[in-house]
Amino acid sequence: RQNSHGPIGVFDSGVGGLTVLKALMSHLPHESTLYLGDTARVPYGTKSGEVVTRYSLKNAGFLLERGIKLLVVACNTASAVALPALSAALPVPVVGVIAPGARAALRRTRGGGVGVIGTPGTIRSGAYQRELEAAAGSEGVRVKARACPLFVPLAEEGWLGGDVPRLVAREYLADFARSGVDTLVLGCTHYPLLKDVIAEAVGPQVSLVDSAEATAEMVAALLEEQGLLAAAGDPPVHHYFVTDVPERFVEVGARFLGRPIHSAEQVDLSF
Ligand code: SIN
Repeated sequence: RQNSHGPIGVFDSGVGGLTVLKALMSHLPHESTLYLGDTARVPYGTKSGEVVTRYSLKNAGFLLERGIKLLVVACNTASAVALPALSAALPVPVVGVIAPGARAALRRTRGGGVGVIGTPGTIRSGAYQRELEAAAGSEGVRVKARACPLFVPLAEEGWLGGDVPRLVAREYLADFARSGVDTLVLGCTHYPLLKDVIAEAVGPQVSLVDSAEATAEMVAALLEEQGLLAAAGDPPVHHYFVTDVPERFVEVGARFLGRPIHSAEQVDLSF
């Protein structure tokens, strides 16, 4: 089933994963992509691991039927709770956003410790904490994690600056600013949109890590290693699927992707 002509499949609970797709498009300009935003069932971050795993397997099956050569799980919550089930079930390589983000943070920290912010599901799973500790090995790493559930609706609303997001960020992040953490992982695909208020709340001494870039680099390396890179010159095709009506996805998504989305096809993944 795997060949270098297939597209890269990407799924997310909604529009947030488009920040990962954007990084993939810029690192791998010859690759075609299929993006599935499960907009009918967003958010994943407040749901149980069992339900998020069930949704994730359904999303992956849909993309697999369309001939993808590799799957990117562009949702932190799904990466945190469903990656083992997805890797076991799929005949193609599966890349999540947590391992690349954790490794990028360890490369960045100057020894003060790493902060992680994400949805309640991501933080509760302990996936970042485990990945950071495993990658740090005997050197060890101090990790401070916190769920910031209000950031997702703020980003979805496009409410990215001004008093309300600034106050919310200060409330969530004041402890990080005081804790000596020097690196903060934006452990949710929505958070890069709020980078400015987050940076202001933690202060200039804290470096922000966005896993989108690190994930795209990992995908590029994996495709090269497995001889799956698309040939230069093939015109890439980008197709979008959503599980709710497409209007809002097309509008909000353009902000996440940084370029217009001309159309998205609504599909029914109910079961
Ligand atoms: C969500 O669906 O709650 C946000 C997606 C994420 O965890 O990155």
